[in-house]
Order: sequence, then structure tokens, then C-alpha cells
Amino acid sequence: MTAEIIDGKAIAAALRADIARRVATLKSRHGVTPGLAVVLVGENAASEVYVRNKGRQTLEAGMTSFEHRLPATASEADVLAIVARLNADPKVHGILVQLPLPPHIHTEVVLRAIDPDKDVDGFHPINVGKLSIGEPCLAPCTPTGCVMLAKTVQPKLAGLEAVVIGRSTIVGKPVAQLLLREDCTVTIAHSRTRDLASVVRRADLVIAAVGRPEIVRGTWIKPGSIVIDVGINRIASVDGKPRLVGDVAYDEALVVARAITPVPGGVGPMTIACLLQNTLQAAAGVNRAG
Ligand code: GUN
Repeated sequence: MTAEIIDGKAIAAALRADIARRVATLKSRHGVTPGLAVVLVGENAASEVYVRNKGRQTLEAGMTSFEHRLPATASEADVLAIVARLNADPKVHGILVQLPLPPHIHTEVVLRAIDPDKDVDGFHPINVGKLSIGEPCLAPCTPTGCVMLAKTVQPKLAGLEAVVIGRSTIVGKPVAQLLLREDCTVTIAHSRTRDLASVVRRADLVIAAVGRPEIVRGTWIKPGSIVIDVGINRIASVDGKPRLVGDVAYDEALVVARAITPVPGGVGPMTIACLLQNTLQAAAGVNRAG
């Protein structure tokens, strides 16, 4: 059996096209143009690429894009001052502070300063809490994308044994919460899990988010399962050129799983599409439940 390859690039493009249509409706019916502000502190090559892509895709969706760049020497107070301005700006519906921040700036202080109704990353403790108690909220983008991709293969995930590998606050924990909302039976495995292989073998749905190249082997995969690979790891290949691999040994899993996301072109493109979706949701005011 060869797995279905879940085409995240195409699925994200279709989602962005749908968002663009809904943005046009919001503009014409209510005169509201969703605005997304990105704050970038310092120079980080990967962050530059993300921010450029975010800016382009925001404009393509018909939204307004705001960009605030600060030098790596900026103080925490400088960043907080920008966040306060964006919180108060009615043209800004979504605020994203690009991570990682320079080490002298306390990430948790900055994230807590963002208005929870504009927190399109879903990292503010208010949104983290609402996600865990099942209230409407802005949910983190990569986890939302993972669940969407799994649902393209199996629209109802209820009852599935889901194993999440990784317990980060950005992916592992929120994706586990989203899968609980889908009525999956969820296990979160991590670096201290005993016999990871046998835990993964139980899974009908595997979400690999540990950031360890090809740690999940094909022999760990239950035949017929759905595999969502969040890992993006740069490794040197035999010819010495760097190449990107996921957390799953793709070629091995491909012949066992029912469906699998490639790296690149799987989960990656979904993150910005879900960010745009959150910005639209924030502009439409659907999270302001109080
Ligand atoms: N850096 C890498 N990915 C992300 C993300 O999803 N959100 C933010 N704020 N920073 C990131």
C-alpha cells in the first residue's frame, strides 16, 4: 500500500482563496478591512522569510499588512510600546510578534501584553485557557492546520487514537487540545516517554512535532494510519547539500500509512493560511465573547 500524499500546498492555497472571498464580503457588507500587524525584532534569516511571506499573503487575501521592525538592541519597553499602540489601533485586528525574540526580551511578558482579541497566534494565556475549556478563541495556527489536514482524509476524527509527539506550547499541547475537541483519544508523548515506538504503534493519527530528524520510523506506524509531520529539519545529505526532512522517516512511512504529509509542502503552508483565517475571525469580532 502506498499512502495518499496530503498536499498541504494546494489545501492552503484553496483556504487562502476562500479567505479572500470572505474578506471581500466583510469589506463590502461592513466596510471592514482586516489588518494584520507583524512585529519583527532583530535579524533572523528564517524570521525574515516568514515575515516576507506573511506580508505578501496578507495583501493577496485583500487584507492590510503592517510591519514593525526593531533592531536587535531594542529594549523590552520599546517592544511593549509598539504592542500598546497596535492594541489601540482600530485598523489592526491581528498582532503577531515574530518569535524567537532576542534573549534580553521576556517572550511571555510581550505575549501577555497583546490584546487577547487580537492575538492571532493564540499564544496569550487567555486564549490558551479558553482552548483548554472548549470556549471560542483564537487557536494557534500550526495546530489548526494539522487538524485541517487530517480532516481532508477523514472528516470525522471522533474515536481515533491520536498520538502527539512533542509537548511544546506552540504545537504539541494546543494540537492535543484541538484533537480532544474532535473527540479523539489523545496521548501526548515526549522526550521522557518510555518505549515511544510502542506508543506510536497504537495511533490511528500521528502528529509528529519534536524537531528530531526522522525519529519516527516506518516500523512504528500502524498500517492504515494518518501521519501529520510538523518537523522541518535541515540535514546534510550524502552529496553534502543540505535537505529538509521531517520528524518522520517519510519513505518508510509512505508504504505503511493511509495518508501522510510531505516535508516540505505539508503542514508548513497551512500555518500562514490559518493565521489569515484567525485575522479574519478577529476582524469579524467573533471572539469577543467577554
Ligand atoms: N516563529 C516561527 N513560527 C512562528 C509562529 O507561528 N508565530 C510566531 N509569532 N513566531 C513564529
